Amino acid sequence: MYENKSQAQMYDRLYQDRKDYDAEAAQVAGFVRARKAGASSLLDVACGTGIHLAAFGKHFDRVAGLDLSEWMADVASERLGGVPVHRGDMRDFELGETFDSVVCMFSSIGYLRTVEDLDSAVAAMTRHLAEDGVLAVEPWYFPDTFLPGHVSTHALGDGHRGISRVSHSTLVDGNVTRMEIHYLVADSEAGIQHRSEIDLLTLFSREDYTNAFRKSGLAVEYVETGGGRPGFFLGTRA
Ligand SMILES: C[S@@+](CC[C@H](N)C(=O)[O-])C[C@H]1O[C@@H](n2cnc3c(N)ncnc32)[C@H](O)[C@@H]1O
Repeated sequence: MYENKSQAQMYDRLYQDRKDYDAEAAQVAGFVRARKAGASSLLDVACGTGIHLAAFGKHFDRVAGLDLSEWMADVASERLGGVPVHRGDMRDFELGETFDSVVCMFSSIGYLRTVEDLDSAVAAMTRHLAEDGVLAVEPWYFPDTFLPGHVSTHALGDGHRGISRVSHSTLVDGNVTRMEIHYLVADSEAGIQHRSEIDLLTLFSREDYTNAFRKSGLAVEYVETGGGRPGFFLGTRA
């Protein structure tokens, strides 16, 4: 997905413009505090370039991140100074410490392919929860809420560097979505470059998510967030 540092840096620039990371972090901190008032630590699984983590650092005394991509984790480490950013796979990571909250944002869990992988990821996140901790997972869409044919466009620039992004999403193989994304990046020195990627994400059902939480020993609820986002599954120890 992100095969080198420059792609991770492009993601970082683009998505800060596309999403309100501060507001999302504040919302999730609210979900956590409503269930564990004194929560003071948070682990962001699939933290990407660490933009949410920077915001979570304003709400929690101790934060840490984990991502599969060395390039995304590199950009996160540069952004966050001394904050630990681990390399690892959400399905089987083991950090040897627990947190009052573990979160997995921006549908990153949808990159998993099978229900077994989903179960393993939720179990690994749960193992990192403190006794009465809170797990918050932002899913990808569900089979009945995904809109095939969806087109998204976005552009930003400052006169020296600009990025434009278009994407088109379809459904393949029953429950896998295929998002084809094309980027044009203009730089005053390097000129214009084109790159594209194809992201495959799984449409797990609501039951797949709730079963994964329950198998890990968590009571689970689903909360809507509105704004075209897929909501959150929130887990606390049953
Ligand atoms: C859409 S990005 C979201 C990044 C970040 N959470 C954000 O909100 O900007 C998806 C992230 O999931 C990470 N990822 C995908 N599969 C993963 C896995 N199995 N374990 C850990 N991270 C994974 C990718 O490297 C990427 O950084």
